[in-house]
Amino acid sequence: MKSIELLDLQIEIKDFLHSNNKIETYHHCITVGEYAYNLAKKSLADPNKAKIAGFLHDISAIYPNDQRVDVAKKLEIPLCKEEIKFPMIIHQKISRQTALDIFKITDPEILSAIECHTTLKGGYSDLDLVVFVADKIKWDQTGEPPYFSGLMDALNQSLEHAAYYYIEYLLNNDIKVVHPWLMDAYKELRNKLQIDL
Ligand SMILES: [Fe+2]
Ligand SMILES: [Fe+2]
Repeated sequence: MKSIELLDLQIEIKDFLHSNNKIETYHHCITVGEYAYNLAKKSLADPNKAKIAGFLHDISAIYPNDQRVDVAKKLEIPLCKEEIKFPMIIHQKISRQTALDIFKITDPEILSAIECHTTLKGGYSDLDLVVFVADKIKWDQTGEPPYFSGLMDALNQSLEHAAYYYIEYLLNNDIKVVHPWLMDAYKELRNKLQIDL
C-alpha cells in the first residue's frame, strides 16, 4: 500500500470510529500501528502490513461486549466456548471481519494479525507477533501497564521472549478465561525458547 493510500485508510478509520463515538479507540489504533511499524522494520519485509493491522486491530470496538456474540453469529464467525463465556475476546475476530468487509483489506497476513492480536495463536507469523506485542506495550488504558518493564526487558531479547513474558504474566494473574489460541501460542513459544517448567 502506498503512503497516500495509507493516509486515506487512516482517515476512513478515523471517520468510522468518530461517527461511532470511539475516538479514543482511533488514537489507540494509530499508536499501536505506528509502534508495530517500528518493531516490524527490524524483522519484516513489509512493515506497512504491521501498520495497517495495528490501525484496524480494535475497529470492532463499536460493538459493546454484550452485543459481540450476536454480531459474531450474524457475521457467521465461529466461536469457542471461552469466547461465549468472555465475549471481550471476540473483538479480535470481529475486527478481522470488519477490516475485510468494510475496509476491503484482503491480505491474509494482515487479517491474521488482526484476528489474533489479543491471544496470539499456534503457528503465529512474525507479523502476528509484532502486532500482539505492540498492542500490549501501547495498551488501551491510562498509565503504564503493570507488566511493562518486564516486557521491555524481554523484548530486548526477542519478540518471542516478549510474547512469552506477557502470556506468562497473564496466566499468573487475574486471567478471566484461557483462550485455546493463547495456550497454543504459549506452548509453542515455550518449546521454541526451550523454557522448562
Ligand atoms: Fe484489542
Ligand atoms: Fe488494542
